[in-house]
Amino acid sequence: METLLSLEFLRVVEQAAIASARTMGLGNGHKSDQAAVETMRAEMDAVGMDGTIVIGEGERDEAPMLYIGEKVGAAAHDKGHKYPQVDIAVDPLEGTNLCATGQPNAMTVLAASDKGGLLHAPDLYMEKIIVGPACKGAVDLDAPPDHNLHAIAKRLDRDVEDLVVIVLDRPRHEKLIQDIRKTGARILLISDGDLSAGISAAVMNTGVHAVMGTGGAPEGVLTAAALRCLNGQILARLVVSKPEHEERLAQMGIKDGKRIYDTADLAPGDNIIFACTGVTPGSLLRGVRFFGGGTRTQSLILKLKQRQVRFVDTVSACGFTRSSRITHCALMG
Ligand code: FBP
Repeated sequence: METLLSLEFLRVVEQAAIASARTMGLGNGHKSDQAAVETMRAEMDAVGMDGTIVIGEGERDEAPMLYIGEKVGAAAHDKGHKYPQVDIAVDPLEGTNLCATGQPNAMTVLAASDKGGLLHAPDLYMEKIIVGPACKGAVDLDAPPDHNLHAIAKRLDRDVEDLVVIVLDRPRHEKLIQDIRKTGARILLISDGDLSAGISAAVMNTGVHAVMGTGGAPEGVLTAAALRCLNGQILARLVVSKPEHEERLAQMGIKDGKRIYDTADLAPGDNIIFACTGVTPGSLLRGVRFFGGGTRTQSLILKLKQRQVRFVDTVSACGFTRSSRITHCALMG
């Protein structure tokens, strides 16, 4: 599945990024999101797969496209051919507000796996702690930040004061931020986008050592798909605080709302492909650049089975029949 599909998924996230990047700074999040969703949906029809959306834009009645359970891929309109069955998780525009306001780190995201390889997570909040390969196994979701940061510092052979922790800038994180500050670690508060932050924690030279706090559960599953490929770790637990949350879990077949999920619980697939393209310039990926009718994009493609991490730079210029690709491959830590 991996080799052929990964190139097709690359095209899907690239095209969605180009469409949404045209709306950068317009101050219209709905328009930015719509551009990414519509383009991603249209591009997916050409992908040689029998795909099912397992994480998408929500339920059918609230999402006209990329709704959970929607069939995507060539199999939907080519009944005569047998295509591989694939589960698809998307965040067509991670950081809608970042794109609408022209801030860093908005990106288009897709993860795919063999059937059942991605947790069907409800759209609730999720507590998370995310670290890179060197710190795998050193952290505990229920331990205080002081304990976790000392464990991370020890693994990275540095002082706690040298660490950078990303936290979503939300009132719910007031105590977490205070506790991290007390340790002396440095904090990068972000307005949105804990998925790109989570990937950064597992990629060398991004200057990010951990992500802590509560964000979206769908983003948690997508982060786990990327971290399986990058050999990093996410520990997570759904935030179940209302009776309707319990009902939602029951509908999705989740019995234990207090369960702590490890990376492979959230993304258990043996075949996972993760693809994302930068929309606005960021610390992980460059944003879309437009020039005289052409575009240049930067993407990240991860393939679990091949243990392959690829940064792909694509230039699509007027007069070129195909985009030219400059590919940098790196081995995982
Ligand atoms: P979008 O993809 O909807 O723009 O989500 C952005 C995001 O910041 C995620 O990265 C994060 O997990 C979630 O929203 C946090 O939710 P909230 O804004 O409700 O705190």
